[in-house]
Amino acid sequence: MISQQVYHRPVLLNEVLDWMGLKENGIYCDCTVGGGGHLTAMLKSTKTAKFIGVDCDPAAIDYSRRQTVGFSKRCWLFEDNFINLDLILDKLNIALVNGILFDLGVSYHQVTTASRGFSFERQGRLLMRMSPRYLALSEKLRRSSKEEVARILKEYGDVRNYRRLGREIYEHRVHLTSTLELRNLIENAVPRRFLKKNLHKVFQALRIWTNDELNNLRLGLVVALQSLHRGGRMLVISYHSGEDRIVKRFFRDKSKEGKVVLLRKKAVKPLDNEVKVNPSARSAKLRMIEKCGS
Ligand SMILES: C[S@@+](CC[C@H](N)C(=O)[O-])C[C@H]1O[C@@H](n2cnc3c(N)ncnc32)[C@H](O)[C@@H]1O
Repeated sequence: MISQQVYHRPVLLNEVLDWMGLKENGIYCDCTVGGGGHLTAMLKSTKTAKFIGVDCDPAAIDYSRRQTVGFSKRCWLFEDNFINLDLILDKLNIALVNGILFDLGVSYHQVTTASRGFSFERQGRLLMRMSPRYLALSEKLRRSSKEEVARILKEYGDVRNYRRLGREIYEHRVHLTSTLELRNLIENAVPRRFLKKNLHKVFQALRIWTNDELNNLRLGLVVALQSLHRGGRMLVISYHSGEDRIVKRFFRDKSKEGKVVLLRKKAVKPLDNEVKVNPSARSAKLRMIEKCGS
């Protein structure tokens, strides 16, 4: 069995517990359950509050179900896209919730499981999908155009030589079936000194595309705000400038419309000692609001 440590180490955990403002009679939703780190901590810090956990990855739901067995009377888990939060609440006969958490991006387990195809350091089929319902990256590439591949590298990865790399990937797409083949192709197309950064950026851009992460986020935020009680809080942890921009703008616009209050003007970042023990926390930014309008 995978240990909690190995599955995922929750980021900004104390900050989430402090800012969520958990109440014993409240209902809360963790839209990105992953290994259940945030969820189990919230469960353990309350006695009667209820929790709904959502993740599009069946492995995350399986794992979190095991982590939360002792809490099954006040915790319900759903394998679904968080854009369907309203439908999930309908199923449970719940109109609105008191708090919602998004901890975006991928889990440590997803990235380090070679067969999932997320990592340029591990040999795996070029899947890179969080949910088995999504198209694998290799298949998406086969269906794409040269222009689209270049655009994805530019928009989602800020890749410098996006045109050249996009063309290379496009031209070899039919034979690209594994992570290390993609890595090889990048290595051959990029000067050595830019390699590490480019590998990271290209893989990240393709992952965001495969999982439609930014569109899901845009929609997810709208649905989540509609699903919150007045006085309810939404906390979002992002790891990528594209994600953070969407969250920041959404919260700013809703605050201008008088629908939410920003709990903090600036994003909360992890302290140095958290980053030291968990380097994947280094790019994390937590933004949060409280709903005040209808
Ligand atoms: C960073 S991990 C969450 C880790 C979790 N907070 C913990 O403490 O273990 C992000 C999770 O969000 C899930 N995810 C990403 N996009 C999603 C979406 N649109 N709908 C549902 N789950 C999503 C991923 O499958 C992944 O398990």
